Parts: sequence; structure tokens; C-alpha cells
Amino acid sequence: MSERFLPYGRQSIDDSDIKAVVEVLKSDWLTTGPAVAHFEETVCAFTGAAHAVAVSSGTAALHVTMMALDIGPGDEVIVPPVTFAATSNAVLYCGARPVFADVDPRTLLLDPEAVAAAITPRTRAIVGVDYAGQPCDWDALRALARRHGLALVADACHALGGEYRGRRVGTLADVTVFSFHPVKPVTTGEGGMALTDDPGLAERMRHLRGHGITSTAAQREAAGGWFYEMTSLGYNYRICDIQCALGTSQMARLPGWVERRNALARRYDAALAGTAVRPLETLPDIRHARHLYVVRTPDRDSRFRALRAAGIGVNVHYIPVYLHPYYRSLGYEPGLCPVSEAAFAEILTLPLWPGMEDGEVDRVVRELLS
Ligand SMILES: Cc1ncc(COP(=O)(O)O)c(C=O)c1O
Repeated sequence: MSERFLPYGRQSIDDSDIKAVVEVLKSDWLTTGPAVAHFEETVCAFTGAAHAVAVSSGTAALHVTMMALDIGPGDEVIVPPVTFAATSNAVLYCGARPVFADVDPRTLLLDPEAVAAAITPRTRAIVGVDYAGQPCDWDALRALARRHGLALVADACHALGGEYRGRRVGTLADVTVFSFHPVKPVTTGEGGMALTDDPGLAERMRHLRGHGITSTAAQREAAGGWFYEMTSLGYNYRICDIQCALGTSQMARLPGWVERRNALARRYDAALAGTAVRPLETLPDIRHARHLYVVRTPDRDSRFRALRAAGIGVNVHYIPVYLHPYYRSLGYEPGLCPVSEAAFAEILTLPLWPGMEDGEVDRVVRELLS
């Protein structure tokens, strides 16, 4: 029997998910209905955050976060380059300038010392990215943000289910953003969420998600009225009830998935110990959400080709954002963040998702080392 193709990540859908989605399809509300609030409450209960605003993607969550923080022209926002472009694109959407600060070579997480060196009088916010599912050094980033009066944002699109010093991801920054894309810890197909303890920020993000209009269709229906006004230039960043039903159903299995992802990662760690293929380090006192399993290997491109030829869907996360042609057209130059650039030449993402078998980890390692 031929071995199955192993993607670097994939969703896990079961009958309970399908049942939850079908129930919504048979209900009165396909969007702006009760499943949206239920999903928000479920993620709040899981993380301990006070407020959650579910939106159409992680990118939309980042955008409403930046808008709610009043980031605009003339402002600078510090971001790491080792991330998906959406992190810094959200800053550009608001007319502000992303300032790239380098990462720690052990983890590829934002380096607080590099952040401190990048702060200027124009800096308004710091965005940490919990790359691969490992939480940043949030205490150090918070201390910097406090000292300089900056907002602190967590792009935790990889890290739902992670913990930092006993605190759950979702409560570690002023606003935390999740993505529910299919490879992420929990999926809604497409979707995202912004969490905060600040009721004012939550209200503003909710408002921006729905065109900047003063009430939702469900609120008008409940009040028996028709009147609404648009008071801000908002967007249609709504997520629908069908998606949220899937998300709520998925959340029930998240703790088991994080366990399983960590068990598979430990199997990779043990098999790769002492070889030329070096996994990224895991810091003490955190719970890694293990969205991605990333190794560094000097001959990355040849190993990439050999693994793909063997039916193993390895990937590369990420090209440093400022090296993309669009960012180059804005004036960003190579050499800005040397640690990120050196890592980019070596990083390889190996398959990891909860439905993978132990023997499939062994197969990936065998091909990788052959
Ligand atoms: C770190 C990071 N930030 C933001 C995003 C954007 O999320 P979405 O694809 O849901 O818009 C992603 C998704 O790939 C991501 O990995």
C-alpha cells in the first residue's frame, strides 16, 4: 500500500463538527446570530479573556485591532519579520509604518532587546508573534510597552492553547489575535478573533467589524425597529454562524490536540537529537501550542526537494516579510534583521497535526536524515 501524502498541517473534522454545522444550517440565523456570541464566549472561557470579537479572518482581526488602537499615518508599530505578511500588512492598512525588530535565534520569537533598540518617539505599539505556537517573552515585552506607553498586541494566530508562565495565551497582551484557517489549532474554514480585557477596545472592534454601524440586524430585530446610523468607516468583517458553530465544536477537542501535537513534537525532538537537523528551542515555563514543527538545517533546499519527492509536504515559514517585493518597493532593504535572514536560509517546517501517526513522524525523520 502506498504511503499517504503528509501535509505540514491539516484540519481535524469529526461527526460532532458536522452535526453542529448542520444544526445552524437548519436554524433561522446564518450570520449575526447566536452561534457567533456562543463561539466568542467559548474562547473567552477557555483563555480567560474578558471580551472576544469574532471576525472573518486573522487578518481582519489584526486590522480592527490596529484601527481600535487608533494607529494611523505618522505612527510606527514594531513587528518581527519572521511571520506571515498579514501581521505587518495590518499596520500598512492604517497608513502607519511597520518597524522590523529582529528575533531570538533560538526560538525565532521577537527579541525584547531588539524591540527596545527600535523604539522611537513615533512608536505606538509592539506586536509579538507567537511563532510556531510558542509564546513570546510577554513579561519582557509588557515591561517595555509600559515603560514607553505603548500598546501591546499578540499575534497569536499560531498559539491558541499555549501558555506562558501559567497564564493562557489570550490574556498576555492588550489585544490578542487568533486565526481559524484550516491549518491553525482550531478551524472555522476562514475566521479570526480579537480578544481583550478592555471593554472600550472590544466595543470599537465590534463596531468596525459591522461597517461602523450602530446596531446589528439581530439587535434591530430584537428591538423591533429599523433605525441605524453609520458613525465610523467600518468593514464587513463578519464571520457567519455556520463557521462559528464549527469553531465552538472544535474548541471542545483543543486540549487533547495540543497534548497530541506536543507528543508528536517530543518524538521528533528525540529522533533528531544529535543530528545535523536542529529543532528550534522550546523555552522553560511555557506551554507550546505546536502549530508548526520547525527545524534548522544548512542544506535546506536539497532536503526540501527530497522530502517533497518522497510525498512529505514540508514547507518554509517564513521569508522575512520585508524581503517581499512589495515591502522592498516601500524602501525596506536586505540586512535589516540579520538573525531572521540567516534563519530563513535554514528553516524547514515538518508535518505536524493531531491526526498524524507516530509512525509517520518516524517516516519523516527517516527521509529527512537519509
Ligand atoms: C502569524 C500569522 N498572522 C496572521 C495570519 C493571518 O490569518 P488569516 O489567514 O486567518 O487571515 C496568519 C495566517 O496564516 C499567521 O500565520
